[in-house]
Amino acid sequence: MNSMKKVLVTGGAGFIGSHTVVELVAAGFEPIIIDNLCNSDISMLDGIEAITEKNIPFFNIDCTDLDAMMDLFQHHGPFLGVIHFAAFKAVGESVAKPLAYYHNNINSTRVVLECMAHFGVKNLVFSSSCTVYGQPKENPVSEKTAWMSASSPYGYTKQVCERMIADTSLGSNLSSVLLRYFNPIGAHPSGLIGELPLGVPENLIPYITQTAAGLRSHLTIFGSDYNTPDGTCIRDYIHVVDLAKAHVAALSWLEKQSPICEVFNLGSGNGNSVKEVIDTFQEVNNMPVNVVAGARRPGDVEQIFASADKAKEILNWGCELTLADALKDAWTWQLKLQE
Ligand code: UFG
Repeated sequence: MNSMKKVLVTGGAGFIGSHTVVELVAAGFEPIIIDNLCNSDISMLDGIEAITEKNIPFFNIDCTDLDAMMDLFQHHGPFLGVIHFAAFKAVGESVAKPLAYYHNNINSTRVVLECMAHFGVKNLVFSSSCTVYGQPKENPVSEKTAWMSASSPYGYTKQVCERMIADTSLGSNLSSVLLRYFNPIGAHPSGLIGELPLGVPENLIPYITQTAAGLRSHLTIFGSDYNTPDGTCIRDYIHVVDLAKAHVAALSWLEKQSPICEVFNLGSGNGNSVKEVIDTFQEVNNMPVNVVAGARRPGDVEQIFASADKAKEILNWGCELTLADALKDAWTWQLKLQE
């Protein structure tokens, strides 16, 4: 058993990062958060500390800043591993601001890898996305499914970072897991942490909850003429708490491996349409959502859902929570935000 339990969590004040910090603490790890708060809020730390009843070290650092990162590794290590979330993540925004995405997502990963190599930190869990697959020819997609061209600069940065990590793993002491998330949704059941979309939400679930709460007049369904049973796009929605637990499983697995670079899909294995998600939300929360049919959104793939068998087999991880659980927890979080 390795007595070193410190884990550096970049982007740890963000949506998935904050939930992962909670699960790390529950599993006996000692997370240290760095975040430059460009797309998150310091208040998330209060939520984390209320749930875990622990003070979590936090540093406001930009991961692209090599000197600041070296300094952190020097003074707050040694780390058992790094979980690297810090990145921009909006598909549409990446089309409008490609250079910001290339700078932030690629340089932060390069700096993390340089610091890990310099200080001999072995284990890396990387936050990737099913966006690396583009529009797959067949569903479900497995880790062996060939990548199509990325549909956005955001997707391309995830492809590049995965490649950069795989290349670095070759012939080095690095052990890495690349986690390809499908659609993370929901919030912690306590209602103490959740997603904080800035401005008008881009993603479906925060748009639904804000519409139900009366903050938006209506939700537009982006396209009802797709080649799917009800004409709307299909995605694989995964509860953020299940997703967070997968990071702990991945890190615990990495601890026992010789240098390796392994990739896992993280999804429920179920495909749900936009209409099914809206119907489920209305049903489980008994809240109406005003919906209008709109045009397709540029860049959307028609359907994608995961085969998550590999994560089950190797990491012994699978989803325990349902779409209904996630939509209930997302609504609890929305109500909490308005208190
Ligand atoms: N949608 C609507 N109306 C809205 C918002 C979304 O109909 O107001 C639809 C979209 O068209 C899509 C589905 O809801 O069919 C899900 O859209 P999201 O924006 O919630 O999620 P995406 O599937 O577009 O994006 C997510 C992550 C990305 C990741 C991508 C990979 O947010 O980070 O999956 O497919 F890259």
